[in-house]
Amino acid sequence: MEIRLKFASEKHQALMLDDNDTIFASGSRRSGKSIIVGQKIITTIIENKNVNCVVIRADKDQNKDTTYATLTRIIKQMGLLSKFIIRKSPLEIEYKPTGQMIVFRGTDDPEKVKGIDFATGGLHMIWFDEITSISKEAYETITGSFSGTGEYKVINQTLITTNPAGSANWVKDYFIDRNVYKASIYSFTIFDNKFLSQKDREHFLRLKDIDYPRYRREALGEWVYSEGLIYKWQEVDRIPQALPFVFAIDWGNSQGSGDPTAAVKVSFSGDNIFVEQIAYSNKLTLNLLAQYLPRNINIFCDLNAPHAVDFLMNAGFDMQPMKKAVAKGRVVDGVQIVQGKNLNVLRNSRDLIAELNNYLYDKDGNITTQNKTPDHLLDAMRYAVIGHERIGSV
Ligand SMILES: Nc1ncnc2c1ncn2[C@@H]1O[C@H](COP(=O)(O)OP(=O)(O)OP(=O)(O)O)[C@@H](O)[C@H]1O
Ligand SMILES: [Mg+2]
Repeated sequence: MEIRLKFASEKHQALMLDDNDTIFASGSRRSGKSIIVGQKIITTIIENKNVNCVVIRADKDQNKDTTYATLTRIIKQMGLLSKFIIRKSPLEIEYKPTGQMIVFRGTDDPEKVKGIDFATGGLHMIWFDEITSISKEAYETITGSFSGTGEYKVINQTLITTNPAGSANWVKDYFIDRNVYKASIYSFTIFDNKFLSQKDREHFLRLKDIDYPRYRREALGEWVYSEGLIYKWQEVDRIPQALPFVFAIDWGNSQGSGDPTAAVKVSFSGDNIFVEQIAYSNKLTLNLLAQYLPRNINIFCDLNAPHAVDFLMNAGFDMQPMKKAVAKGRVVDGVQIVQGKNLNVLRNSRDLIAELNNYLYDKDGNITTQNKTPDHLLDAMRYAVIGHERIGSV
């Protein structure tokens, strides 16, 4: 049978011909990862009568609208509808001439994959889609389910597709940083997919102005620079003198329990901001805090501790609560303002640097404050930058 395929790019074509054991395709959204892997599965099944394939998503039910739909579409596009039986219940695709199968599973019981029985040949191909939602343990158990390859000529191939995730995800470490399984690594951007519609392309290009880290992740498919980190910064040994500066405070819970009170000093020089951690403690009395604060300088702060604001105001400090003096705004908007600066952080501001390292986008591009990542100094830094932008330092 003659197989005719259209490729989104030469890189996609190279993946089609790759016979490495493990093939890892990561990259931007809509970059053609699923289609090329689907094409490879259909082609391999047609060309080798012993190959059956299991397709894995974290949740079995996700297959229907994703992997299963993609494979169905490819079969149509290749003009092979008459050669395959595409079943909805159970979800499976059968190659008519031989009875070879493509079946769909989740990771609820990884051991079960080993038990799947095929009428002809064995399990020689596994596709993990969106592997960042799958645990390392499930991945390793399932890839341990391949059939032996002694009886006939065949290779066992693991195909992986995914969008980049944050640096905390095991996939980043195992595939991108160390390539533990010696996979062939493919990285695709929206520009690699010549079939991407103009509308899609415009959507991604717009992101460039709206949210640059997200653009890098979703349009360029990068793990490294946007590896979840919301801010990029450089550490400096000292902060230049004689720059305009402000202070800012994010109130914690008093009485020595819960969140710390966080205070920062931020100095401004054109597009550069220099940030220094001043206080970070949940045992700080207001009298003690006052000793760290400057006179005649704007001190931006959250509004949620009115007694503290009043106390310091009465003590003569230029407190600027963020709702009265200047609107605090949405977190994402503030983050974007800070992202527009070159962020320099004093090297010994350890808690601040720890917070920066843990301030991440989740895989949908949302800020992961819901996970209770400490972000008190970062909130204070944000108030300082917005406050300075709106009303200056004094
Ligand atoms: N070979 C091809 N022939 C025709 N269209 C293609 C081809 N490859 C990709 N496309 C088009 O590009 C779109 C995106 O491809 P695909 O779904 O494979 O991307 P993806 O990288 O898996 O995206 P996601 O990250 O959203 O899962 C497809 O819906 C299709 O319109
Ligand atoms: Mg996909």
